[in-house]
Amino acid sequence: MDYHQTNRQIEQYNDGDSCYEPCQRDRTIRALIKLGMELAGCDDEQVVLNKALKTVLSAFEGRWCVFRILDEKTGELTIKASAGIPENIMSMAMKVKPEGTLLGKVLASGVTLGIENIDEENSKIMPYYADKIKSMLVAPLKTGGKTIGTLKIYSFEPQQWSKYDYQFLTDMANQLGMALGNARSHNFLKKQYISVIKGLSAAMETRDFYTQGHSERVAKISSDCADIFGLSREQQEQLYQAATLHDIGKIGVPESIIMKLEPLSADEWEIIKMHPANGEIITEKAELSRQVRAIIRHHHERWDGGGYPDGLAGEEIPHLARIISVADAYDAMTTDRPYRLAKKHDEAIDEILSGKEKQFDPLVVEAFLQIPAEKLAK
Ligand SMILES: [Fe+2]
Repeated sequence: MDYHQTNRQIEQYNDGDSCYEPCQRDRTIRALIKLGMELAGCDDEQVVLNKALKTVLSAFEGRWCVFRILDEKTGELTIKASAGIPENIMSMAMKVKPEGTLLGKVLASGVTLGIENIDEENSKIMPYYADKIKSMLVAPLKTGGKTIGTLKIYSFEPQQWSKYDYQFLTDMANQLGMALGNARSHNFLKKQYISVIKGLSAAMETRDFYTQGHSERVAKISSDCADIFGLSREQQEQLYQAATLHDIGKIGVPESIIMKLEPLSADEWEIIKMHPANGEIITEKAELSRQVRAIIRHHHERWDGGGYPDGLAGEEIPHLARIISVADAYDAMTTDRPYRLAKKHDEAIDEILSGKEKQFDPLVVEAFLQIPAEKLAK
């Protein structure tokens, strides 16, 4: 079979003795630096893949390109980004078992492999639906020394892949593998931080029987509002994080105040009113995004400017904080508290309506009213 392995070329490249011609080298280095800068600090795997796809396509001047990531549970390679695959074969090509194919050999060997001419003799290496493909070049995507996927370019004509093609695709795959690894570890750490904070939040709620489950319910109602507004996936995620952690700053409020049956003194109110700003500080240490921290800080602002901690008004208040404000008020009203019983759904709705354009953003109130009562039931 007509494979070309690049062990030797990679070694040469690592030794600084690149196989690139001078003009290719400039173009390649520019493309790789540009990609590196674009990918630096990017923690969204899909964004990383889409950016890399654009670079590969421009470098290979319009050839077709596919990124696949290995699903360790099923052993299948799944397309995560691609260009050039006709729609009618996309569904068949989406997931493939790599065993016995060129992709499988790349996964097993960890080196870039190519086929220059797929003819009858070696066509078994291709899936049945890909009979039009005549040549391909596949590089392994590696992170932390482990192959996690493949980067493939292919054409519908026999193709003599040059050393430059091998080298460039290998370098590109290495850079992309590194960016994917960074995105994954960043997201892993972030998830760890969030689960620790959620644990703290749950621990805090156990101090007060009356507020158990409050944060999760506020997150759920906020998410229903977000659906009505048609918010993006990124905004939905920010809203979920902020809603789950919105009262985390109460961890610094003494239990004697939290559980007090009598009306709070002015000083005690001042302590309570510190919790949004304290929540922002706690979540900053957990490296939550600036947007999420701003939502936590401003969830007690009022539309008319009479809230705290900063007295922001109207659209000065982050939109997602205005959503949490309504969800928070509804859940607080419909839950028993040490000093009063829960209001009924209709009573709480009346209260929300009376706070429209005073405490609450009128558009958020309108969106909130569209949530069916059954969904709001505890
Ligand atoms: Fe709060």
